Amino acid sequence: MFKSDIYIKRRKELHKKIKSGLALFIGNVETPMNYPANTYHFRQDSDFLYFFGIDLPGFTGLMDFDSGKDWIFGNDFDMDDIIWMGPQPTVKELALKCGISDTSPMNKLEETIKDALSRRRRIHFLPPYRGETKMILGSLFKENPCQMKTLASVELIKEVVSMRSIKEKIEIDEIEKAINIAYDMHVTAMKMCKQGVREQDIFGAIEGIALAKGGGTSFPIILSINGQTLHNHAHGNILKKGRMMVTDAGAETNMHYSSDITRTTPVGGKFSQLQKDIYEIVLKANTEAIKATCPGISNRDLHFKACKIIASGLKELGLMKGDIDEAVTAGAHALFMPHGLGHMMGLDVHDMEALGENYIGYNEKVKRSDQFGLAFLRFALPYKPGHVFTIEPGCYFIPELIENWKSEEKFKEFINYSKIDKYMSLGGVRIEDNVLITEKGHKVLGKPIPKTIKDIESICS
Ligand code: GLY
Repeated sequence: MFKSDIYIKRRKELHKKIKSGLALFIGNVETPMNYPANTYHFRQDSDFLYFFGIDLPGFTGLMDFDSGKDWIFGNDFDMDDIIWMGPQPTVKELALKCGISDTSPMNKLEETIKDALSRRRRIHFLPPYRGETKMILGSLFKENPCQMKTLASVELIKEVVSMRSIKEKIEIDEIEKAINIAYDMHVTAMKMCKQGVREQDIFGAIEGIALAKGGGTSFPIILSINGQTLHNHAHGNILKKGRMMVTDAGAETNMHYSSDITRTTPVGGKFSQLQKDIYEIVLKANTEAIKATCPGISNRDLHFKACKIIASGLKELGLMKGDIDEAVTAGAHALFMPHGLGHMMGLDVHDMEALGENYIGYNEKVKRSDQFGLAFLRFALPYKPGHVFTIEPGCYFIPELIENWKSEEKFKEFINYSKIDKYMSLGGVRIEDNVLITEKGHKVLGKPIPKTIKDIESICS
């Protein structure tokens, strides 16, 4: 945990923003994997961590915006718990660590909520994303658990988003630690990227680094020579010469701040000319987008900039044609880059996505597009100092998508379908870094992870 004054300051700020009612923050509980005592790795809810910091299952935080008081609800370990899991600090001791002196056992929570509801007090809560939390909320509010997401407080969502979006110095330090773990993961993957090696061997080795150096991975590792599948979690292939391995992987620190880095390595460590052709285009989109990153520019404008670089590069290779501005406006480039440029990062690798993507990256004035590709852009608003983003352009040869568009002759004025075949064996290329928006511009966070052709070839050799 951070020192208690961090959590006190954060809760004070929320008290200032929301004028009345209560806010209920239900921390995560243990979730069974295949029988009750065999649970998944415990991950605390990120909003609970942000305001209360207690990284253990079974706690709830409550803020009263009228009285200014905060509580922690939780149960002390009994002798059975101690025998199986060892002694734990008391609820009082844990609550003091986040600056709260008022605690109650869990069975008092129902009474407290019942009392507040009977007095028609507003009870704010954030959208639940786990079945267990929906059940707890459903039982407290006497509502259908499946409907609880629709009853979440938009006011609370917006205030939490406004706070968590701007990272404090201690948070940025944590994110840099997470990137430095990712450095070791990616350099290890590059060194292992040799003909005959199994994807699973590399996956296991780098997952082990995340566990040994921090709190594990920040999302399930994407690692495959079939990088054309954007989120490829199958690791069953044996590496073959001519293929490129996309590794999209990051770590959490022990405080649960995340990194999210992608590198693409040719099997055998040496780029062929064909691989260089596509790699250099994606690298240019990555570096030029990063160079242009500063407060005020929107993530949507930067997305278009990267897409135009990709489309221009593909035009030079003969895969695209026509006016590039028109092609990108029409969405023709999305055949090759069907995803957004990046997303916010912090305590969640897709930061605060549980609160609703449109509350984070869109607003009343900036609405999400429904155009193929652009619709996946998670954030369209202007950057502010303190934001942390991924910048992750890519170029993919997705057989099913290409076949589909080709059969419909879609965007035939912008795409040379006959020239694509030559590149199909490449799969995909993605290059991703994590960037802080500063007052004057930006800072690429963490120890630089090799990404030029020269540096990757040198690490691999
Ligand atoms: N790095 C995985 C993702 O952004 O979805």
